[in-house]
Amino acid sequence: MCGIVGIVGDKATAKAIVEGLRRLEYRGYDSAGMVLATNVGFEVKRIAQDTSSIAALSDWVNATTNSVKLSSAMGHTRWATHGVPSEMNAHPHLDCSGQFAVVHNGIVENYKEIREQLMALGHEFASETDTEVIVHLVEERYRLNNDVREAVTEAFDELVGSMAVVVMNLKEPETFYMMRRMAPLVIGTDDSSLFVASDIPALLDGVTKYFSVPEDALITGSVRHGKVVLEPLPETLEVEWDASKVDVGGYTDFMSKEIDEQPRALSDTLAGRVDRGGLISLDELNISPEELKTIHKIVIVGCGTSLHAGMVARYALEHFVRVPVEIEVSSEFRYRDPVLSPTTLVVGVSQSGETLDTMVALSEAKASGAKTMVVSNVVGSSMARMADAVLYTRAGPEISVASTKTFIAQIGALEILALYLADLKRTLFPAEVQELISKLNEVPEAVGRAISQIQEYEKTTQALLEYQRFYFIGRNVGYPVALEGALKLKEITYTPSEGYPAGELKHGPIAMIDDKAVVVAIASKSSLYEKVLANVEEVRARGAKVVIVANEAPVDSEVRGDEVFLVPRIHQLFSPMVDVVPLQVMAHYISVSRGLDPDRPRNLAKTVTVE
Ligand code: F6R
Repeated sequence: MCGIVGIVGDKATAKAIVEGLRRLEYRGYDSAGMVLATNVGFEVKRIAQDTSSIAALSDWVNATTNSVKLSSAMGHTRWATHGVPSEMNAHPHLDCSGQFAVVHNGIVENYKEIREQLMALGHEFASETDTEVIVHLVEERYRLNNDVREAVTEAFDELVGSMAVVVMNLKEPETFYMMRRMAPLVIGTDDSSLFVASDIPALLDGVTKYFSVPEDALITGSVRHGKVVLEPLPETLEVEWDASKVDVGGYTDFMSKEIDEQPRALSDTLAGRVDRGGLISLDELNISPEELKTIHKIVIVGCGTSLHAGMVARYALEHFVRVPVEIEVSSEFRYRDPVLSPTTLVVGVSQSGETLDTMVALSEAKASGAKTMVVSNVVGSSMARMADAVLYTRAGPEISVASTKTFIAQIGALEILALYLADLKRTLFPAEVQELISKLNEVPEAVGRAISQIQEYEKTTQALLEYQRFYFIGRNVGYPVALEGALKLKEITYTPSEGYPAGELKHGPIAMIDDKAVVVAIASKSSLYEKVLANVEEVRARGAKVVIVANEAPVDSEVRGDEVFLVPRIHQLFSPMVDVVPLQVMAHYISVSRGLDPDRPRNLAKTVTVE
């Protein structure tokens, strides 16, 4: 939550900060602000205009600061945690003297005590935020030791919580002080400028080198005599994304672009995983094949869409590898006392690789001796650095808050993991593994065929626009698809929608079914096809509008007035990757038809770095 962007050197313009903030808007957008280091001091602007704060900041920049020469500048887009979204609470925050400016992403858990201590020392606070204590603490420590680096280090040591922080000092406006703890912060450089941001998309233009700020360390970045100096020099990051990938291109919004990009996201994720000898390779595996052979239990943790991808993979892992697979919401897992051992593999699924609950779940699993792996879309993300093994989804940056292409890519990556383990443990014959790999390699093309039906799916959705209650049902791998369909719809249309295992309907939810309800059934031909259709009969008999996701239209659907989303037929365990497409399209179409912004749903942020 919250996005940070800063620039020191030639490229430091207010416009460039606004552009960076736009690319970080997915991290939160209830207010925004910036500080500019001009030759007459700091100029600060904060705006809180609901979802248009960054646009308003851009108007302010165009109207006032266009030609001002800056030494440095930094901006912030906020997702409120402490203090309502307001101008006063928007970042950056300044100390009493106006010498230090701070932007911050995360939560300072001990801010109340620190605030009280500082107030007792005479500090005056201008906002309700936890962030403001950071800048006053730096001021206080500086007052005592007169050394900015020391002051920032001491202040950071006193803070408890997860956070990424950048501090500016008016007396050395060509320097940034940068720190992070369990929250992302990346640095980019070119010949004459230094950039810092919460995420790579905000850095892409012209950056030639990327660095990750190490956990719990202070990095000072300056531009002196046109040369960038980083102290100490952090580890470099390999980044394959380019600026065109974070541009909406000819699309009306990122979500429709990202839905369209799904075949590519999946094929890039699958590409190069099998060598000429037919052996599957994973990305960064610091667990030996011998250790992996001993794995007797797999636990998958994740949140939201990533959790659903894990739920899909459970079926393949249990079926192909014959090990028990537990699946749990990260925020619950981390507060349990789970039974883990060195023969347990805990897999965190996280697009961003930064979701706090999943990160803590993984670190606790690691501390209790289990092997850990992360499936992440972001190279060098916190979880990727922390886990014993990493499996990257190569979906490219996902900007829309609602995940689409990364869901499909996560499933693809986890299916690869299942086949890798099955090969290793010999629970499948090599020829079976090869056959399944070739079936998996056909899925991107099948997803492409589903995408070629988008107009059909939208036409079908027109019949649903007036409905205000949706229930999604499925069995086996269709169940997580039902959950994902319901999540997409509620996220971007705010329509009450629930996903259930189809067999659970009669144990309660069916009481809600009437002629105002839509029931979307995931009913691709599979071993449980007839059973799902029997559940459909039950809701039809109670007046529900029925929508069927099918790889073959049920014979009587037209006569009965059901709506049908047709998808290509593929291996049952892989079918969620095509079944989900019409549900994404449906949610998107309803959102746009109701005049909503599918990319920026209310109250949400893409990367959840708080509990
Ligand atoms: C839904 C969505 C969220 C995320 C969840 C986990 O469309 O995007 O539910 O899936 O917040 O985020 P990551 O995968 O970054 O850990």
